[in-house]
Amino acid sequence: MHLAQLRLRDFRNYARLDATFSPGFHLLLGANAQGKTNLLEAIYLLATLRSFRGAGGAQLVREQAKGYFVGATVEGQGRSSIKIYWSARERSLSLNGTPVKRLSDYLGTLRAVVFCTDDVQLVKGTSRGRRRFLDLLLTQSRPNYLTLLLRYTRALKARNALLKRPQLDEEQLAGFSTELIRVGQELIAARLELMPRIAPLAQQAFQRVSAGVDELSLDYLPTIRGDFGVALAASRTRERTYRTTLVGPHRDDVSFTVNGRPAGPFTSEGQKRTLAIALKMAQAEFLSGVHGSPPLLLIDDVMGELDSSRRAGFLPLLNEAHQAGGQVFMTCTAENWPKDLGRELVRWEVTKGDLQSIPNTLPG
Ligand SMILES: Nc1ncnc2c1ncn2[C@@H]1O[C@H](COP(=O)(O)OP(=O)(O)O)[C@@H](O)[C@H]1O
Ligand SMILES: [Mg+2]
Repeated sequence: MHLAQLRLRDFRNYARLDATFSPGFHLLLGANAQGKTNLLEAIYLLATLRSFRGAGGAQLVREQAKGYFVGATVEGQGRSSIKIYWSARERSLSLNGTPVKRLSDYLGTLRAVVFCTDDVQLVKGTSRGRRRFLDLLLTQSRPNYLTLLLRYTRALKARNALLKRPQLDEEQLAGFSTELIRVGQELIAARLELMPRIAPLAQQAFQRVSAGVDELSLDYLPTIRGDFGVALAASRTRERTYRTTLVGPHRDDVSFTVNGRPAGPFTSEGQKRTLAIALKMAQAEFLSGVHGSPPLLLIDDVMGELDSSRRAGFLPLLNEAHQAGGQVFMTCTAENWPKDLGRELVRWEVTKGDLQSIPNTLPG
């Protein structure tokens, strides 16, 4: 699949953009604060309906404007047209001219994996980022996962609201607990099933990028041993104190172990970055395997922070994606773009919210 057309109106610093993209490798060049990351953010929004920078709708609207529009044509099995509009008063999402009623019907129209400097938080940050990583991967690969996740989140919110009330309604609580347990068990099962499929891909990628023999292992860390219902019942006394749901997949985590030691405290900054890239490479390869075609790769400023041997491990992924008919968008400043990328590049200059293609200068 590839993004064939992108239209932006009042999105970040883009007043108006109409661009056409071929499959293959696109390099977005430009000085700082010109709109390179904003462009990747728009593409990621089409894929996931979220900003990878964690921005809410209002931040994405161009200053002084009322709302943003992001539109696209995606070529995959067929041709899809996507329209997203957001303002404080109105939001809409349509696919091929029809409003989207269920998100699960929409997600999958465009698949993307983003690589950015913030990815290192997967290793250094809190468990929330790691759960998100798993949840996104499962949303991108299992048709019903998002529906389950939304049901779980609803039940959890309702249950936590009840626990905060001065008078506890035991009957209502039991109702939400039943839903939480039923759906939560399915979430945990899906995550557990994913781990052994993603772990070898991450391990392989880690070795390629680190050009080393470091051993990486990934483990799911549940807050529950055994039955969710039993564990939830056992936590009731503590719940009364903390007034919130203390066990379940919303509190679970993933641990990374490098050479037998926890990656967080025992690895160098460079190894942490390598590990983060490896996780994203694993995500991309996993999705390629599940869907039979590579996702879009959105690579933001990552090259600049890699030394040459790590670059050499990372570049083959890009070439493979390219060769499999995929599409890659990579941002760089003029100084640090990897000259070792090869010839078949489409280069773009990004300047103050405008995109211009740079003609290929042929020697002679
Ligand atoms: N909502 C917005 N409205 C107008 N300009 C914005 C908005 N959000 C960000 N910008 C501008 O976008 C620019 C940063 O764009 P970005 O894509 O992050 O830059 P870079 O090219 O360095 O990746 C800054 O000049 C910033 O002021
Ligand atoms: Mg940027």
